Amino acid sequence: MTIKYFLAALFIGFFNPIFSQQSKDPIIESKIEALISKMTLDEKIGQMYQAVGNKKIEQLLPMVEKGEVGSFINVEDNQLVNQIQRTALEKSRLGIPLIIGRDVIHGYNTIFPIPLGQAASFNPSIVERGARVAAIESSYNGIRWTFAPMIDISRDPRWGRIAESLGEDPYLSSVLGVAMVKGFQGKKMSDPTSIAACAKHFFGYGASEGGKDYNSTNIPERLLRNVYLPPFEAVTKAGAATFMTSFNDNDGIPASGNKFMLSNVLRGEWGFDGFVVSDWGAITQMVNHRFCKDEKDAAEISVNAALDMEMVTLSYKKYIPELVQEKKIDMAVIDEAVRNILRIKFRLGLFENPYIDLTKPRPSYKPEFLADAQNAAEQSVVLLKNSNNTLPIDTRKIKKIAIIGPLANAKHDQLGTWVMDCDKSRTITPLMAIQEQFGKDFEIIYEPGLKFSRDKSLEGFKAANAAAKKADLILYFGGEESILTGEAHSLANLNLQGAQSELITALKKTNKPIVFIVMAGRPLIIENETKQSDALLYAWNPGTMGGPALANILFGKISPSGKLPVTFPKMLGQIPVHYNHNMTGRPASGKETMIDAIPLETRTLTVGCTSYYLDAGFDPLFPFGFGLSYTNFKYDKLTIEKPTLVSTDTLYISFELSNIGKLDATEVAQLYVSDLVGSIARPVKELKRFDRIDLKAGETKKVKMSLPICELAFYGMDMKRNVEAGDFQLMIGGSSESGIKSNFKVTQ
Ligand code: GLC
Repeated sequence: MTIKYFLAALFIGFFNPIFSQQSKDPIIESKIEALISKMTLDEKIGQMYQAVGNKKIEQLLPMVEKGEVGSFINVEDNQLVNQIQRTALEKSRLGIPLIIGRDVIHGYNTIFPIPLGQAASFNPSIVERGARVAAIESSYNGIRWTFAPMIDISRDPRWGRIAESLGEDPYLSSVLGVAMVKGFQGKKMSDPTSIAACAKHFFGYGASEGGKDYNSTNIPERLLRNVYLPPFEAVTKAGAATFMTSFNDNDGIPASGNKFMLSNVLRGEWGFDGFVVSDWGAITQMVNHRFCKDEKDAAEISVNAALDMEMVTLSYKKYIPELVQEKKIDMAVIDEAVRNILRIKFRLGLFENPYIDLTKPRPSYKPEFLADAQNAAEQSVVLLKNSNNTLPIDTRKIKKIAIIGPLANAKHDQLGTWVMDCDKSRTITPLMAIQEQFGKDFEIIYEPGLKFSRDKSLEGFKAANAAAKKADLILYFGGEESILTGEAHSLANLNLQGAQSELITALKKTNKPIVFIVMAGRPLIIENETKQSDALLYAWNPGTMGGPALANILFGKISPSGKLPVTFPKMLGQIPVHYNHNMTGRPASGKETMIDAIPLETRTLTVGCTSYYLDAGFDPLFPFGFGLSYTNFKYDKLTIEKPTLVSTDTLYISFELSNIGKLDATEVAQLYVSDLVGSIARPVKELKRFDRIDLKAGETKKVKMSLPICELAFYGMDMKRNVEAGDFQLMIGGSSESGIKSNFKVTQ
């Protein structure tokens, strides 16, 4: 079911992805040229400006009438959109429609799991569907451009924006980023429910030093091309309409002033023909970066770097006229920026169909959308521990359930970051769902114990403990409020906030089994709490329907199938920690002496001498791709059709996957490839394929996967992307840490 996304995620030159970017339409191109030939410089600059839209109409209309603005961000009312659009079409000199943008990140009214949670589903169909629903709901409000997908490779959970990302892996982010573009842009961009996607944040933003937002990044070009750029290249080939530059400077050059990346790579190498918008104020912030001496300098650098549109600041409006006068910017460069912007407006059908049909009913919260959101939430939950088969709840033994914790009934925080247009009263929390679905079969005792995740007060502990003592099972819903992730919300400490750890320790003393359900926008440091729990479910921020999704999993209506899209560190000090690391010259053996086992006065260099931590070892708490099920799976009979191949071949493998347990379930089978020697040191393994496979209890399926050898290409010593001959190992399994293995060779 997901092959179409794989093809679309393939890289340049090897394969024509089914969903290749839109080729230029000669009719549109001629209309663009006709318009440009009539436009004054001020009208051209107007197209290059995105104004803040949440202003009074009387403030907006004059700008529109004079053609001084090409786009608005955050106009929040569809009648207002129609009104300003009518002014643009009927009163401005050239009648160029506006494009209205908004952050529609993981739902608009109906909220889906945060992108990091959706990534845990390893299901591009789910991700595409979520984007499609968001496009249908948001386009009814006049939004025809979303600032998503965010496809920053994120390896540092201190960074609050990891919540918006699709995780640490380039392949997973590529496949799911393409799915989001397809969902937002639909089958035809000119369809009124299609909204232009925006690949962000270009580029390298997820590597912000120290996980501190807006901080510098220092990614060398080869690492950039092998790890951080692939998702951006994949969505370009899949037809993403726009890009957004990021706030960070990489190796001293702010992304909004990086001509090499915006011109040579994005347009020259990848053939991108949409338009690029800056992030909010990112152009004039190059003065703060001490990269530009003033805003005029910033405007000159960004325009000449092929950054087409300025988001909300005014450097283009103020300084382009004199920069053109001073011949510091060619008119040809201005024309190209306007061309790119008009091209997307034409492709969206805004000239022919600029208005929202308000005679149609508002499509928000449709039952099928809520069902889609629940399905996405169910597939995003990851089971990380389940000792003594605590889960699913054994309804024969368990009659009294204590529901405790600050996130059991948190309608707002369950939704996650970037939710501006939803009605939180529509959120169904776990408490609501469990009471509604199972309240008649069980005695449900609800005592939050803490009012919110950062609550340090112990006053609720007594009641919570009393509830726990009465119960047969404790469901503890903890984690973090949604405001603790998202933009500008980085944390230097990832322990559970407030008195949550103390509460779990207190509950542990009741000797009742504890199921710890985490709602969070990032991996948290929860080794101790995991040890104290009998079962652990990671639900991320599961969205509007997170409650029914968790109830179905807890009571065994479905088996959890999520897998981690990001590595969970044992300790903060392990960060950055990710599965596709290099081997190093002294790889950890797993047999190292740990800190408490070191004899007194041990002599230097007699302990360890490999790449590990004395106090944390080497392994993370949970690895990328890991996730348990209510059943067990067996991988067997791995075969490779042709173990010696050339770069134009395709590797065909098959294996048997069996559900050896008693419950129907779904497994995400993952294919990892290790390049054993390269012209540069290569990652220990890289995810190259995955697929969700449904298996009834006792069922065995023969699974086939194919991998064009061209997808093993990487940027090597010569900074060219090639497949290098040599020996490879492959592993098929249910996580990045274990599986059945085989070998193959590429001869040329
Ligand atoms: C913000 C974010 C970006 C968002 C934009 C518009 O600063 O960095 O992701 O799309 O501004 O809200």
